[in-house]
Amino acid sequence: MVEELVQNGRARECDTSRVSVFEGMARLVTRLRTIFDDVRCESVNGILSRRVGFLAEDLIDLVDRDPDAAFASIHLNLHHGYIVLHSMMAGVVAYRLALASSFGLKERIALVCAALTHDLGLLRIEDLVSGSESLDSQQRKIVKQHVENSIQILIRYGIDDPFWLTAVRDHHEFLDGSGYTGKVGDDLSVEARIMALADSYSAMLRPRPYRERVFASHALEDLYANHLDRYDAPLLESLIWDFGFQPPGSVLRLFNREMAVAVRNTPGILDRPVVASLTDAQGRPYGEPVFRDANDPKYGVCEVLDPAMYARAGHLIERCWNIN
Ligand SMILES: [Fe+2]
Ligand SMILES: [Fe+2]
Repeated sequence: MVEELVQNGRARECDTSRVSVFEGMARLVTRLRTIFDDVRCESVNGILSRRVGFLAEDLIDLVDRDPDAAFASIHLNLHHGYIVLHSMMAGVVAYRLALASSFGLKERIALVCAALTHDLGLLRIEDLVSGSESLDSQQRKIVKQHVENSIQILIRYGIDDPFWLTAVRDHHEFLDGSGYTGKVGDDLSVEARIMALADSYSAMLRPRPYRERVFASHALEDLYANHLDRYDAPLLESLIWDFGFQPPGSVLRLFNREMAVAVRNTPGILDRPVVASLTDAQGRPYGEPVFRDANDPKYGVCEVLDPAMYARAGHLIERCWNIN
């Protein structure tokens, strides 16, 4: 019955405080997927704004408890589809950028709500966006329509918060006018700028049928080197310093050939995260994650691997953020 009340948005799930941040985030992904399933079937139980609002508040609680574990949980999640994981990651990133921008709590919650729902308009055309073929001009037009469709869905379910709606409406707009409708600079609110950056970065980190996953360092390099005029520069710098070049959950080959996972960004150093080794040089899993000294050159990062590689030592992953 409690589960039904939570799903209907009539009660707040209260057990995320009793589980690890890593596990708590995985539970939130499942809740968001249920909301998406309801929207897709046009049979939303309860009040959508409350269901999304409670989810946003739970996400904020977990990110506040441990932002690295929250990021890693989504980064390493291989069990759900693109739209749900992309939206959750956008929520984590947007929240951290909102904190750096000194937004008040009400605005931070509304921004996370926007991030969780910004691509609702893609749900009905998921097959189209998940196809391996490149899109023709007619299909691209349909995909572009998803922003307006997201807004229409939110309004239909009674969401009228202008902050939430603006962030969704402008998530494909860029400062240089190269976005969907060509809005530029001053037309774009801070919440819209945060959403656009959180959206682009989160999209790059997930693989698509037509392209490989883009590693975080390449994603940040691309945003910084090629698209600096698109994004708000202080926000982009804040993103880079917050998560680093190998953000939490990045699976790495160290110079001593161990496979390791990035656990935390080292403050002030972009490319030397705190790492925990999961396997020895021959690929045999350790009994416990082995934390390595990031300052010792033999534990430096030799190569970034696909996160799917961690499956061999999957039982160790969650412990990397629970040993403190
Ligand atoms: Fe979008
Ligand atoms: Fe998106």
